[in-house]
Amino acid sequence: MAEKLSAMVVDADKAVRKKLRNQLEQMDNVQLASMAQDMDEGIRVIKKSKPDILILELPEDSGKTLEWIERIKLELPNTAVFVSSAVKTPELIIFAMRAGAQEFLSRPIDSDELKKAVQKVRAAKEQVRTQTPKRGRIIAVFNKKGGLGVTTVAVNLGVALSQATKEKTALVDLDLQLGDVTSFLNLSPDYSIIDAFNESGGVDTVKLQSCMTRHESGVFVLSEPKNPAESENVSSSQINQILRHLRSMFSYVILDTPHTFDSRTLEAFELSDNIIVVVVPNISSVRATKKTLGVFRDLGYVRDKVRVIVNRSSKKDPIKVDKIEEALHYPITWVIPNNYPVVIDAINSGVPLVNHKGDSNVARSILDLTNDIPEWSRSLYVEIGEKD
Ligand SMILES: Nc1ncnc2c1ncn2[C@@H]1O[C@H](COP(=O)(O)OP(=O)(O)OP(=O)(O)O)[C@@H](O)[C@H]1O
Ligand SMILES: [Mg+2]
Repeated sequence: MAEKLSAMVVDADKAVRKKLRNQLEQMDNVQLASMAQDMDEGIRVIKKSKPDILILELPEDSGKTLEWIERIKLELPNTAVFVSSAVKTPELIIFAMRAGAQEFLSRPIDSDELKKAVQKVRAAKEQVRTQTPKRGRIIAVFNKKGGLGVTTVAVNLGVALSQATKEKTALVDLDLQLGDVTSFLNLSPDYSIIDAFNESGGVDTVKLQSCMTRHESGVFVLSEPKNPAESENVSSSQINQILRHLRSMFSYVILDTPHTFDSRTLEAFELSDNIIVVVVPNISSVRATKKTLGVFRDLGYVRDKVRVIVNRSSKKDPIKVDKIEEALHYPITWVIPNNYPVVIDAINSGVPLVNHKGDSNVARSILDLTNDIPEWSRSLYVEIGEKD
């Protein structure tokens, strides 16, 4: 039996809401999740219920609605947005499509037209379900500047994903010279990334598996070379091979990266489905992040791939989150609060924050972020499906 699609309606006109309810209720396997008069009222429910379809009124003065659509598509890329409008000019259709709307319905909404649009969503979902290869998601965590929380985010995401999803999760320390993932997890592995290669320099799957260390949370750690000088022996093509192998072995592969755009890190970014850029609320970090986003834009990365997360946020910050968004011209996906005593205590004790002080604001924030990640769309690079 086909899966049920959930729909939500946001429309100022009560009669239109009522008619849409009837139209949707008459369709097989469609469930009306909720209705709202406007986005201010509807947004909270939309974020929570993550409907498959959102049917949105597009008024003649469309600016604000188009902004909402952009935002929804960024946060909920799997929600198909239909707009309905009494005006149907080519410009308005183009603007709506550019913002991310999938269907433009004329008002009054014709039942057959709506049905066809819903069927398209169903067909697309079915195609993704049957054709998406079973391949792990690679998530790199990065910041051009050091000391802002990259390892904290990477380690705790790895641990939390492993525990929450029960999926096989790997945590890779790509900071080959200065890596400290093992210290954050109080591990002393016998082997490192160097041991994953055979004599001819290729990656040996059996060796790769055996040189990963299982942390008690379930996450498998691939650590940096014991001797930092050995890191010079690792090439970007070897990083490429390692990551391809890992994503066929694990559902999630989290990368802690160095603070440079060297060729190995860039190779890792290419293969990543998502790159989390960590920014903290100060001018120098915001500037560094702006440059980083410029590099990613030049590399042709789509917005869904690159996610900016504010770390160490506090009410007392002179630069608020909305100002950071404004300065970056880029949306902030997540905000992690500042809580130095708790974070440093976790680091010093070698117990991941999400286990050490799981009820602290900072741990809860990372746990909530973890729940969101399976919803993130994967980069086009991977969806297009280059050959393994
Ligand atoms: N949310 C937070 N609240 C308070 N302090 C934090 C938070 N996140 C990280 N820190 C602190 O920031 C410091 C750096 O963290 P971390 O090592 O994770 O950053 P990094 O970017 O990986 O640094 P490095 O340059 O060493 O790679 C640590 O002392 C940690 O306690
Ligand atoms: Mg680090």
